[in-house]
Amino acid sequence: MKCTLMSVVAVLALSWGTASGQETMAGYLLEEYSCIMCHTDMRMGFQEGVHSRRGIQCTDCHGGDPSKFETEAAHTGNFSGALGKAEAVALCLSCHEDIPRMRQFALEPVTEEMFLFSQHGQALLEAGDTTAPSCGDCHGSHAILPRTDPRSPIHPARVSETCAACHTDPARVPAGLPTDQMDQWVASAHGRALLDRHNERSANCASCHGAHSALPPGVQEIPNVCGKCHQLVRETYFMGPHGQQGSATGAGVPCTACHANHATTMPPLSEIGALCLTCHEAESPEGLSGLELQEQVLRAEAAGDRARRAVQLLSEAGEPIVDEEVRFLTVETHLQELLVQAHALDPEAVDDLVRRVSSLSTEIGERADVVEEHRWERKLLAIPVWIIGLGGILLALRKRRRLGKPEPDPSWGIGGGIGS
Ligand code: HEC
Ligand code: HEC
Ligand code: HEC
Ligand code: HEC
Ligand code: HEC
Ligand code: HEC
Ligand code: HEC
Ligand code: HEC
Ligand code: HEC
Repeated sequence: MKCTLMSVVAVLALSWGTASGQETMAGYLLEEYSCIMCHTDMRMGFQEGVHSRRGIQCTDCHGGDPSKFETEAAHTGNFSGALGKAEAVALCLSCHEDIPRMRQFALEPVTEEMFLFSQHGQALLEAGDTTAPSCGDCHGSHAILPRTDPRSPIHPARVSETCAACHTDPARVPAGLPTDQMDQWVASAHGRALLDRHNERSANCASCHGAHSALPPGVQEIPNVCGKCHQLVRETYFMGPHGQQGSATGAGVPCTACHANHATTMPPLSEIGALCLTCHEAESPEGLSGLELQEQVLRAEAAGDRARRAVQLLSEAGEPIVDEEVRFLTVETHLQELLVQAHALDPEAVDDLVRRVSSLSTEIGERADVVEEHRWERKLLAIPVWIIGLGGILLALRKRRRLGKPEPDPSWGIGGGIGS
């Protein structure tokens, strides 16, 4: 039964290549096309999808006779019926694996080999486990949209949700496989960047696992998987002892040992030392160097804060601040470099950056100090003016009250303003 269905499927899809390869009016299924008269629920979605745009029709995947308006007569000939999960894979692959055919659409081919590399493909095609996803579980079977469409289940902002449909449900994954990845990811630096700040370059489930060959990355692969996006960190990491591939353990220390895979976060700067102590002895050179690193990073951050306040003060005072702004940009760049550089665990490089940040922010701070002094002088001079002004206001208020005017509406003040 399975074999015959598979071959029906392959024959069906092959007929499309010759009959309706071009973008034709056929994409708009006409009223005379019987399938959509009865299956009205599929019409809209299908016609918005990528396939109908290329002239692919119901019969290219299901067979049948679209000129017949009775169920039985329409469902004749090479009619496939509904397709099982494995049959659907064979159907989709019959086109998508065909490189000469798909080349013109600038689509990466999707092959059975790729799919079989994943535990999804192995479970579905080799073990016959139908809890594993077929193509349609991640793409839909009819309203198939490209990943650039925000409604598509493979749009970067929605991929995780698509995976989570199964991976949060213990009934839909094998017993013992954790189902907490989505909860952790949503709260992680990656989830927040994607969901709150709409940064679509952030990592979703498929960025780290792959889509069609979805597998957990091995320990050795992790730095490269993360490094696809965090290139500078990867480079410095490989310069240091944790990234040395020929290290004693042979594996180094993967990124996820310090950042976690799903609950990815920045370790708080004030806990860098403690983080190192999860693996190194407190009194060891490594443990001590961790505390030193923490101190250096905190020192640089504090200097950066001082520089920020100084630039703000200068700008409030209406001073020209082009020079200071350029210096401050350099401070920020160095602070960023410091976070990256920290991965090489090279005390000299860290020292160098911290020194530069400190001296730049001292320069900015000195100029701000001078301006601040002048500002105070002016403020002191202005005190008599304030006293006269305040007296005037008090007098005016008293006069209003005597004339029986209502008090100013209290809800207009700060408290009421926030509540409303
Ligand atoms: C006169 C109405 C009618 C027409 C025309 C029609 N269908 Fe159906 N179709 C049905 C009904 C009713 C069912 C559900 C009952 C059944 O399985 O027979 C169905 C079921 C199906 C199924 C699922 C079969 C299953 O085993 O669950 C597919 C696939 C299908 N139709 C495709 C088509 C295609 C392709 C065409 C056009 C060639 C078509 N239909 C034309 C009424 C129609
Ligand atoms: C690209 C291939 C493809 C095309 C084109 C296609 N289908 Fe399907 N269809 C599938 C697959 C795969 C399944 C089984 C998986 C599923 O249920 O999602 C299916 C299932 C169905 C079913 C039964 C399941 C259900 O959801 O009710 C019906 C009915 C159906 N298709 C009708 C249609 C009609 C009508 C059209 C044209 C408007 C059409 N199909 C076009 C691939 C296709
Ligand atoms: C586990 C979910 C999942 C399954 C199963 C799956 N896909 Fe995908 N597919 C994705 C995701 C996610 C993307 C987007 C990848 C990206 O953005 O790099 C994608 C992308 C694609 C693309 C577009 C490639 C491009 O270059 O734009 C095609 C075509 C495709 N899949 C076809 C298939 C076919 C055929 C199958 C069945 C053999 C299948 N997919 C099974 C999740 C899945
Ligand atoms: C008859 C051949 C054929 C079959 C069968 C087929 N596809 Fe396609 N598919 C195409 C063509 C052609 C395109 C390119 C459309 C375009 O780019 O305009 C495409 C595009 C796609 C895309 C959009 C990729 C993108 O990002 O633009 C996805 C996803 C996809 N198909 C998934 C599937 C799935 C899932 C199935 C099985 C249910 C399937 N296809 C069955 C021919 C086919
Ligand atoms: C239709 C349900 C379903 C969907 C959707 C789905 N998965 Fe799965 N996934 C499974 C099942 C079932 C398994 C277990 C397969 C097996 O038996 O080994 C699995 C296994 C995995 C594994 C291997 C876990 C391990 O170590 O054993 C990874 C990684 C994975 N899925 C990632 C993804 C990603 C990424 C997506 C989205 C792009 C996704 N899955 C979408 C059902 C699903
Ligand atoms: C930043 C990269 C990254 C992202 C994003 C990510 N994963 Fe993972 N995932 C990993 C790594 C690395 C492992 C392997 C952990 C190990 O072996 O210690 C893993 C393991 C898994 C496993 C195996 C079981 C487990 O929990 O260890 C599953 C299932 C899984 N991920 C699913 C998902 C799903 C679903 C999403 C999206 C909600 C997701 N992952 C997002 C990197 C990632
Ligand atoms: C698909 C690209 C991509 C992959 C793969 C990826 N990341 Fe990210 N990551 C990002 C982006 C983009 C951000 C920044 C989000 C933002 O703040 O807007 C980010 C943020 C982070 C942050 C927080 C940085 C900060 O300044 O708050 C850490 C830590 C991180 N990633 C570690 C990892 C680790 C570890 C891995 C591998 C397990 C990984 N990333 C894989 C793209 C990626
Ligand atoms: C030994 C623990 C450790 C390892 C291993 C590690 N990191 Fe970090 N990472 C940190 C600490 C601590 C910080 C906070 C910055 C600092 O210490 O200056 C950080 C900061 C980051 C940031 C934020 C930098 C920025 O530009 O905002 C990213 C991204 C990041 N790490 C990614 C990675 C990636 C990718 C890997 C693997 C290639 C990795 N980390 C390996 C400890 C580690
Ligand atoms: C997850 C465990 C882990 C964490 C956390 C960790 N390390 Fe390591 N570290 C190792 C391992 C394992 C090695 C040995 C690498 C190898 O040779 O395989 C190492 C090596 C080193 C070395 C090189 C020692 C030598 O003999 O050359 C230094 C320096 C070091 N770590 C500093 C740190 C600092 C600083 C931190 C905190 C920012 C830290 N480590 C966090 C596991 C860890």
